[in-house]
This record gives sequence, structure tokens and C-alpha cells, in this order.
Amino acid sequence: MATRAAARSLLVDIHTHTYLPRYAALLRARSTAPRILSRPKQGSKDVLEERLVILDNEPSGGRPVGPQYWDREQKLAFMDKHGIDVSVVSTANPWLDFLPPDTASTLARELNDDLESYCATSPTFTATAATSHQMKRLYALGLLPLVPSVPIASVLSAIDQIATLPHLRGVIVGTRGLGKGLDDAALEPVWQKLAANSLVVFIHPHYGVGGADAWGERDNGHVLPLALGFPFETTTAITRLILAGVLDRHPSLKLLLAHSGGTLPQLSSRLASCITHDPAVAARLQHDARWYLGRLWFDAVCYGPEELEFVASAIGRASRYAESDKIKPGDQTLVAAERKDGSKRLLWGTDHPFFPPIGEGAQDEKWMSVMENLEAVDAVGPWGAEEKDGVRGGNAIELFGLDK
Ligand code: URA
Ligand code: ZN
Repeated sequence: MATRAAARSLLVDIHTHTYLPRYAALLRARSTAPRILSRPKQGSKDVLEERLVILDNEPSGGRPVGPQYWDREQKLAFMDKHGIDVSVVSTANPWLDFLPPDTASTLARELNDDLESYCATSPTFTATAATSHQMKRLYALGLLPLVPSVPIASVLSAIDQIATLPHLRGVIVGTRGLGKGLDDAALEPVWQKLAANSLVVFIHPHYGVGGADAWGERDNGHVLPLALGFPFETTTAITRLILAGVLDRHPSLKLLLAHSGGTLPQLSSRLASCITHDPAVAARLQHDARWYLGRLWFDAVCYGPEELEFVASAIGRASRYAESDKIKPGDQTLVAAERKDGSKRLLWGTDHPFFPPIGEGAQDEKWMSVMENLEAVDAVGPWGAEEKDGVRGGNAIELFGLDK
């Protein structure tokens, strides 16, 4: 049993994915997306390569896929290479979205058990700097069978299962819910049970918004769907959830948004204004729209210090809309304090195994996608050591109760 991080605080990756072997086998057995296909490698017809195709009409014939997606030892090696102490691993998109209800329910149960043993058999260490508690290197987020026509009892039973698995600390969900999005009233008991069990809900995109029409005809690889479509999808999903009053009814629900919440922080004042001026919704919510930002958690997967600083200020500002009588908007001391407060809801991540270095031999280097996100935290001017340590790991330890 090792002691890690004696002289520093922990680095925790809360946005890191896997396709467990059982799930990868399912993708290999399919002939339509999502699937893993095998084809001759470009330039050498005798060597086969596996490719991951997760969307219909995916650009560039999908992307190369290999053991880094399913082999736990490779996850641990990646963590060691980048100094990551703990990872909170989640199944990558598109989860169970494409399966019929029976299969989705059975597979959710099996994959949740698989994930528990993936974590339970990972190395243990004593994290002396942050806590004397014995921690695992791996924790995880479970899967729910969120597909059209599934009996809601099956979803609730998956939550019960996850709540009993000690290394599962939440769930990862897409944006479709039961087929009608996350503002579907049928999801009410699901939010209720997730909140009652203190499980974190990681909301992650898959489909993008805009679709092929928005991206034009030029081959831009995956750039437009990933850089724009993904965050816009998250933005739409969380905005609909807020507008449906889910956070008014379940204020203790722990929602964590991928990729720093898409564009919600940037658009939150516009959203507030649109609500105020729209008779259909003006009286619906209990708070100004900006207040809800302060109820959410955001990953720090945005690759730039300016963006992190901005998101933290937008989150921190939320308190102004709860106690508006006490606070003068624009007060600079307050703005500085808000930026620090907002940082408590930002959690570092990598999006591994996506965004590997490209080019021959690049696999041996540290990943730029990881290092940029680390450097971004370090370069946020108004943050001191406390805020940076929080974003790198302390906030994750608290949110996921990793020291418990
Ligand atoms: N990151 C993800 O999580 N999924 C993708 O499909 C691409 C990047
Ligand atoms: Zn991701």
C-alpha cells in the first residue's frame, strides 16, 4: 500500500472514460453505429485497425480505438504518467441510449457491477496531505437505463443498485433522458432518488446540436461537432432542466456539467433577461436564472485560464441573485471574492482516452490535452494555492466524498 502526495494535494480526474470489455464486445458485435469496426490500416493493407464509430455519418470514418479505451491497466498507466492520483471513471458516450429497454436494464446492472470491481480491485493508498483515509486510485459513475419506454421502476432500481456499490459515487447521463430530454416530467422520481442518495449526476453530451446542416460540406473532421455541437447540447439540456423547475424542486441535486457547462455561464444573463421578458415563463422559477449557476458543478475541461476565471466568476456571482439586497453589483472586492468562491465548484478532468496526441511516436509523450488543462488551472491569476488545489482535487474529494 503506497502513500501518495505526501507533500502536495491530490490530483483528481473527474472526467475520464472507459468502454468496459463487456461494452466494447457489444460495440464490436454491431453493424450500425455505435460500433467498433475492424478495417485495414491506411497505407498497409495487411494490418487491421479498430475504429470507433459512435454517430451516424461520422466524419473521417470514426476514430482509432485501442486498449486505452477498455484496459484498466492502461488507465492506471495514463494516470501515473500524468501524476493523477485518483480518477472517477465513467462509461463513454453513447452509454445505453441505443438499446431496447430490456437490454439496457440488464446491461446497466452488469456494467455497474463491472465498474465496482474495476475500482474495488484498484490500488489503495494513504493520502496524507489531504486526508489520512485509505483511498482507491479508481472510483466511478454508474449507468442508468435511460431509454424510451423503459419502466421507470428499472431506472429507480439501477439507482438503488448504484447506491449500494461503495466505489460508485454517482451516474453519468446523456441529454436525451427517456427520449424527451431532461425536462421530462416522467424523470421526477429519478431526480428525487438521485438527490436522496446524494449521488452526483454528470451530464455529458453525445449528439451535438445543429447537426450536419449546421456544419456545412467541408471535411472539418470532428472539430465542429466536438468544439461547438457538444457544448451547445449541454447548454440546451441544462437550460431546459432549469426551466422545468427541477432545481427548485430538488435543490440538493448534485449536477456536474461537462466541458465547463457548455455556454451556460456565458449566456446566463441573456437567459435571465429572456425569462423575465417572456410571459410564458416569467413567473415560473423561484430564482433569477443566474442563481442556478451557483447550484451546479462544472468540470475544468476548457483548456484555458481565461475561461476558467470567467466560469468561476459567473458561478460566484450567483450568490448576488440570492441576496441582492445586500450586494452592490460591480463592487470589485466582491467580484474578486466571487471568483474565488466560484472556483469551489470547478473540478479538474482530462476526457481521457479522447484527445490523444496525434502523429507517430507521440504516444510516449505527456498528453497535450491533459497538460493544457493543468496549466490552465495554474495560470488563473486571481486564484491562490487554496483555489488551485481545490480545482485540482480538493473539490472532487468533497463532492464525491472520496475521503469517506
Ligand atoms: N469526448 C467524449 O467524451 N466523447 C467523445 O465522443 C469525444 C470526446
Ligand atoms: Zn467526455
